[in-house]
Amino acid sequence: MYKARIIGTGSSAPSKVLTNKDLENMVDTSDEWIVTRTGIKQRHIAENGEPTSKFAYQASVKALEMAGVSPDQLDMIIVGSVTPDMATPSVGCIVQHQLKATQAAAFDISAGCTGFIYALSIANSYIKSGMCQKILVIGAETLSKITDYQDRTTCIIFADGAGAAVLSKEEGDRGILSTHLYSDGAYGKLLYMPGGGSALPATYKTIDDREHYLKMDGNKVFKIAIKSLEEAALTALSHNNITEGTVDLLIPHQANSRIIDAIAKRLKLPPEKVFSNIDTYGNTSAASVPIALDEANRQKKLKENHLILLDAFGAGFTWGSALLRW
Ligand code: UT7
Repeated sequence: MYKARIIGTGSSAPSKVLTNKDLENMVDTSDEWIVTRTGIKQRHIAENGEPTSKFAYQASVKALEMAGVSPDQLDMIIVGSVTPDMATPSVGCIVQHQLKATQAAAFDISAGCTGFIYALSIANSYIKSGMCQKILVIGAETLSKITDYQDRTTCIIFADGAGAAVLSKEEGDRGILSTHLYSDGAYGKLLYMPGGGSALPATYKTIDDREHYLKMDGNKVFKIAIKSLEEAALTALSHNNITEGTVDLLIPHQANSRIIDAIAKRLKLPPEKVFSNIDTYGNTSAASVPIALDEANRQKKLKENHLILLDAFGAGFTWGSALLRW
């Protein structure tokens, strides 16, 4: 028997930090409001000239180093991102070239904040089918490039960074136990960027109208996020015939600390079984789960045979979960 197992993780974030105090000077907000309503104290923001691929590459190097895998052993690179360097080539191909991963197919997938779990699920299927042995899975974003720093409802939460995991075909029963993916495009316009695609290509008017920035109906997104995250998590547990109490660590999408707390409560998990780093990273969309996974891993919170539950929700809408035996 074999499974797809994560054998190395890595993460990276821009060195520039944007604090709540900094935001107080940019929009009508306060450190107190941001901390109370989101749990965020600071976030990392890319400088001009720092594209998403920079952080994806740095996270990948660390993950490959931990895994003891060389780039030419990779069969595939999958990147979850809604902020690629450009429409084409993909971040996957840019990273493939930088790593010199000469044997790897590479592509991006767009699944909002659920991007990493979608990518992990695809990678798991390729390994389980026997078509691939080693796959690099990345979640990477520079949301600051599409965030409106005049809009206080979005600029206080979104941020930049990348996380990566090396997935390997391994003997035994440790590895990915299941993945569950969902979508509902009916909610697309509750969190979207109107301009810059084929529907509304860039013109002077779209720029003047600030159409190249994310628009979000935060409160509506908030409520659906909790319901969806709960659905994805509970399905993962029931599919594997395990109860909430058996989960050793929940690593949820870092969207808002109140969402994380609500999910923990619904899953009856005490705080020590829920990983959160939203205070220092903010909401990095597809990068949030793999950055948190890497931090938990490097803090030695993931022990052999631990049951780790990944859970995410995002634009699309998309949502999903992955249950891993570490
Ligand atoms: O990544 C996956 C998708 N994204 C999410 O899951 C994010 C989900 N949404 C959220 O995290 C929250 O909805 C926000 C943090 C974006 C907003 O928090 P909220 O508790 O839902 O606030 P709200 O939109 O209901 O606004 C409450 C009040 C409003 O004022 P009034 O109308 O009550 O006077 C807002 O205008 O707070 C005001 N407000 C702010 N005040 C200070 C909104 N943003 C801010 C701000 N600073 N930054």
